[in-house]
Formats: sequence, C-alpha cells, structure tokens
Amino acid sequence: MTLTKYRLEDFIHDMTELVESQPEQDKLFDKGSSYLERLINNPDGIPEDFRTPTGIGPRPNHGSYLLHHNPENGLLITTVVWGPGDHTGPHDHKTWGMIGVMGNTLTETRFQRKDDRSRDDYALLERDRVTNVRPGEVSLLIPDVDEIHQMDNLTDRPTPEIHVYGDDLRGLERCRFNLETGEIKSFMTTRYDNC
Ligand SMILES: [Fe+2]
Repeated sequence: MTLTKYRLEDFIHDMTELVESQPEQDKLFDKGSSYLERLINNPDGIPEDFRTPTGIGPRPNHGSYLLHHNPENGLLITTVVWGPGDHTGPHDHKTWGMIGVMGNTLTETRFQRKDDRSRDDYALLERDRVTNVRPGEVSLLIPDVDEIHQMDNLTDRPTPEIHVYGDDLRGLERCRFNLETGEIKSFMTTRYDNC
C-alpha cells in the first residue's frame, strides 16, 4: 500500500473546512495544529524557493512568501524563513495563529503583559519562557492570552516555517513593544511579509 503524503492543497482544504465550521478556539487549535504537524512533517511539499531567504532587498537574510489567502474566511498561510542571526523583536498579532517549524530550529521568546492595559502607548512586559522550536513542532498564538513573542535564529542555517493566521495581517493595526522603555508602537503592514 502506498501512503499519500499530506500536501499544501490538503492542508488548505482541511483548514478551510475547519475555519468555516466556526469552531470554538480549543477545537480550532486542536484540529488545526494536527493538520499543520502533518504538513510540516513533509517539508518537500513546499517548493524549495519558499523555504530559503530571498537574498535580495533590505532584508536579504529573511524570506516571507504567500501560500494562500481567502478574504472570505480570513485564512492566511505563508512561509517565513529566518536566516542565520535573523531577529524580530516583541510584537502581537491581533488574530489567532499557528507556527510550525519545517527544519532547523527557531528560538521563540514569549512575554506576558503585566500592566492593566489602560494605556495605548505603554506596556510592562515580563519574559515568560524561551523555547527552541524544533522541526515538526507547532506553537500557538492565542489573542490577548499568549501572543506576544520575539523570534531569533541563533544558528548558522536558515529556519523555514509555516505561519497560519485567522485574518489577513495586512491592514491589522498591531503593536511592537520596547522592552527597555515600555513604549508601544503601533504598526500596520501593507504586505504579508510579517509574522
Ligand atoms: Fe509574530
């Protein structure tokens, strides 16, 4: 018997069905992460060009590629590639998300807000945990509860990931956090090249 590998098309199909069934958040993450684990366990199912840094532009050591977006149900799927030494400081997402590592490892630092959220320009962040996310592993972004993170590739090889979000990040007003001053800066991206 031949086992068919789980491909991007299968993942898009299953995630579309899941999102459109409007499940509770727990079920969404439970089923969605099981689908994502299957996909990232078959990295060859994603074209190699989408698993390497761009090598050009203002951030040649990084890559971000759109795989799927459905404006009707919000589902956004991208690959994000972190080259050696690549880094993104603490930020939030304003939607649910799932991140699966396809190869190498990525160091993800999570933060919790300790202020009362009464100010738009200030946040007191406390470092919650640091995880070296390995191939085949998925981390979840839970809005308001556990979604502020910093990403670092501390290795000497690129790390490709699949990112899945419940909404188009383009146009979402999100926050970047300054750990030293507590300052919040809002930002909005015009392309999908964010995470
Ligand atoms: Fe992120």
